[in-house]
Amino acid sequence: MADAAAVYLCQSSELTDSGSAIGFEVLYLSQTCAAFVLRYAGTVYAYLNRCTHVPMEMDYQPNQFFDSTGHWLMCATHGAMYEPQTGRCRLGPCRGGLVKIETSESDGVVHWHTSDKFQPGNSP
Ligand code: FES
Repeated sequence: MADAAAVYLCQSSELTDSGSAIGFEVLYLSQTCAAFVLRYAGTVYAYLNRCTHVPMEMDYQPNQFFDSTGHWLMCATHGAMYEPQTGRCRLGPCRGGLVKIETSESDGVVHWHTSDKFQPGNSP
């Protein structure tokens, strides 16, 4: 088992409330997967970029996940809606919640944290 490590993601100032996400890659169960980090109500959250309806990337334009209200993460393909804080399915055809990636933010810097399931991918 690999030790947990904090992997640099971005500067805090790059993530605004209900704004654009920043994409990155992780190895999830040894597969390269797209992931994203964004900010909602002041807190940073990261998930795999993989809808639970059909395992497709969800952004309707690169790094755009919030719906027009800025309160839900929406899959562009069939409109599944997820809670930004938990990744739980709220509405639509999703089956279960998004896969969450642990993050931390301190001194103006955002990191994600490796685990048994998540290891660094190729970016950033
Ligand atoms: S693929 Fe996301 S809602 Fe169908």
